[in-house]
Amino acid sequence: MTVPEKLLFVCINSRLPGAKESCGREHASEDLLRALKDGVKKRGLKPQIRVTRTGCLGVCHDGPHAYLAPEGRWFHAFGMEDVENILDGLEV
Ligand code: FES
Repeated sequence: MTVPEKLLFVCINSRLPGAKESCGREHASEDLLRALKDGVKKRGLKPQIRVTRTGCLGVCHDGPHAYLAPEGRWFHAFGMEDVENILDGLEV
């Protein structure tokens, strides 16, 4: 069994319309999660780096949001255009 060195938690939490802002509903974070997972696999970074879904990370507004452990780095308000740069950062 290989234990990942890094974990990127991508919030996919989605709330009902009318509730407060969420990563999933307003920012299509499921699509970003898929792009990040595919990118890690394509670059051969798996299993040392794992991208995984999570619920609310507690920051909500101006999402989507992701958190990289153990570095403690946050990614806020990113989009598909940022996926390659985020993946570059995971390799460092
Ligand atoms: S809904 Fe994503 S951080 Fe709260």
